[in-house]
Amino acid sequence: MSAQLEGRVAVVTGASKGLGRQMSESLAKAGAAVALVARSGELLHQVVEGIRAAGGKAEAIVADVTEEAAVSEMAAEVKEKLGVADILINNAGINNRKSIVDFTLDEWNEILGVNLTGPFLCSRAFVPGMKAKKWGRILNMTSIMSHVSLPNRTGYSTTKAGLIGFTKSLALELASDGVTVNGISPGPFATEMNKPLIEDPEKNKMFLERIPIGRWGQVREIGALAVFLCSNEAGFITGTDIVIDGGWIAQ
Ligand SMILES: NC(=O)c1ccc[n+]([C@@H]2O[C@H](COP(=O)([O-])OP(=O)(O)OC[C@H]3O[C@@H](n4cnc5c(N)ncnc54)[C@H](OP(=O)(O)O)[C@@H]3O)[C@@H](O)[C@H]2O)c1
Repeated sequence: MSAQLEGRVAVVTGASKGLGRQMSESLAKAGAAVALVARSGELLHQVVEGIRAAGGKAEAIVADVTEEAAVSEMAAEVKEKLGVADILINNAGINNRKSIVDFTLDEWNEILGVNLTGPFLCSRAFVPGMKAKKWGRILNMTSIMSHVSLPNRTGYSTTKAGLIGFTKSLALELASDGVTVNGISPGPFATEMNKPLIEDPEKNKMFLERIPIGRWGQVREIGALAVFLCSNEAGFITGTDIVIDGGWIAQ
């Protein structure tokens, strides 16, 4: 087990599956005590058990990141169980692939709520502790859809591009406090969110043709990047967005 994050307390939202699960496992393997947050307790507990079985330290905390009171309670629980958080990964996110004419206002508000209000509420809850420690790392899961787009992604691209603006402003606000704030823009990774695309042979082929490296990303590749960005060695990286996409947006 590497000790790169030994003694650090990390919070990962959307940690029950996909990239959030992988980043939680990678941070724990690097020595951090990790609070895993999502709405589904059962899945979270399974991931936590796996981390503990591998010798890591983890706690499952059920919360909806769109609810102000739930985020406050979650932050209090993190402090009580693990201590003041050093690392926050705003990873919980949803997609909704449909034409603008079919988008209901409720669906629009839902995607804004999870992908933008969630990072706002969670960052607001954990920034004071990081400022007091004069050390912190915030990672926001953005997307290649923050930089380029596809048809039927208005809600997703709007929120993920907005999250880059949020990242930059918060990075500047916290630059003199030892707290860095960065985005990670994944390209296509083989996760739950992308299952409908991977299982559709035509769409899968279309995606693979658009990825210069010629394959879907592997989740452990995100885990390794997150560990580095949360380490002391990444202390001069702030206010930017790291793209990990097999070359998608270079085209
Ligand atoms: N997969 C990719 O290729 C890809 C590419 C670009 C960007 N991203 C971004 O990376 C992040 C993770 O993606 P993923 O593919 O790993 O997603 P995923 O497999 O669909 O998992 C999403 C996670 O977020 C949680 N979540 C959703 N709504 C929530 C809420 N209101 N409160 C708390 N937790 C909530 C889910 O758990 P519950 O449902 O139990 O709450 C789950 O743990 C997202 O922000 C996504 O936009 C992914």
